[in-house]
Amino acid sequence: MRALSVPAPGQPPEISDLPAPSVADGTVLVKVRAAGFNALDNALAVGVMSEVMPHQYPLVLGRDAAGVVEAVGEGVDHVKPGDEVFGHILLVPPIQAGTVAEYAVLPAAAVAAKPSAVDFVTAAALPLAGAAALGAVDGIDPQPGQTVLVIGAGGGVGSYAVQLIAARGATVIATAAADDADRLKALGAATVVDYTTGSVADQVRAARPDGIDAIIDLVSYAADSLPLDLLVKGGKVASTLGAADEQTLAALGLTGTNVMAAPTREVIAPLAQQVADGTLTVDVTTTLPLARAAEGLATLASGAARGKIVVTFDN
Ligand SMILES: NC(=O)c1ccc[n+]([C@@H]2O[C@H](COP(=O)([O-])OP(=O)(O)OC[C@H]3O[C@@H](n4cnc5c(N)ncnc54)[C@H](OP(=O)(O)O)[C@@H]3O)[C@@H](O)[C@H]2O)c1
Repeated sequence: MRALSVPAPGQPPEISDLPAPSVADGTVLVKVRAAGFNALDNALAVGVMSEVMPHQYPLVLGRDAAGVVEAVGEGVDHVKPGDEVFGHILLVPPIQAGTVAEYAVLPAAAVAAKPSAVDFVTAAALPLAGAAALGAVDGIDPQPGQTVLVIGAGGGVGSYAVQLIAARGATVIATAAADDADRLKALGAATVVDYTTGSVADQVRAARPDGIDAIIDLVSYAADSLPLDLLVKGGKVASTLGAADEQTLAALGLTGTNVMAAPTREVIAPLAQQVADGTLTVDVTTTLPLARAAEGLATLASGAARGKIVVTFDN
């Protein structure tokens, strides 16, 4: 099968011909129709996590996929061959299997039926970023009338988080470059702050001198990079990059959550239903054929991804 893989540590990803994976107990073999990229895929491609989790090569990239069930392993009874599904390869060592391939084996726990109203490309863009956004939004638990700042709102996770917060009745301030502001307003942001032209903290303080209730941060790796002085007493922080340091926050009368997304079927199936119902938009800004899949990774590596990038297959 054709796949986007890293042949050996330190080498660039390439389209290769690899043996198709075999289904095992508790897994689902999927003929992939679309595979969604995440920032994580770039991290795995360059091996930044290889010291904490063993990688085996050739390493197929991609964790999210949508497609048609080819076979199911022992103990799998919620989907069957021929079903249209979507799902995620959970981050379990060793890291080797991926979804940017004509066939992928996914753990049954992270495979859900694809609603017929949701196409393959849309479904493939949902699992990891949708689950991360939901985890972050649940972490801050926004209430109607509150104001939430989303830093890094333009990417995959941010594009979902903005919508999920707005749907709970809170006001969203999103960071984005000026040329992306209209897209974020269409997703539900009340105000867009241009992080490229000045201090986010200064701009938010000018707009909300009495403070804001919560921050979801998708770009910072440490609490001291967060504009915590914008928060009211009792304010909440959620980070997808481990920046919600409990001690730092507690010293300021704040609380926080470091999100570890778990795109299991219990999480992703309701998200897909929201998409089918029209209450959640999946913002796929780029689709690429497999032959050009590496371009999607390069966009993620540059930090300039907007919405979601999906690789499509015509098999
Ligand atoms: N812990 C977990 O379970 C989990 C799950 C999913 C993701 N993550 C992590 O969460 C982060 C976000 O994921 P993603 O999929 O949304 O990434 P992404 O699609 O690559 O999006 C990154 C976004 O950040 C924006 N950005 C870059 N620098 C910025 C800055 N200084 N201030 C404000 N915005 C900035 C970019 O904006 P422009 O478009 O203007 O360039 C881009 O829209 C990644 O680091 C990822 O690894 C963690």
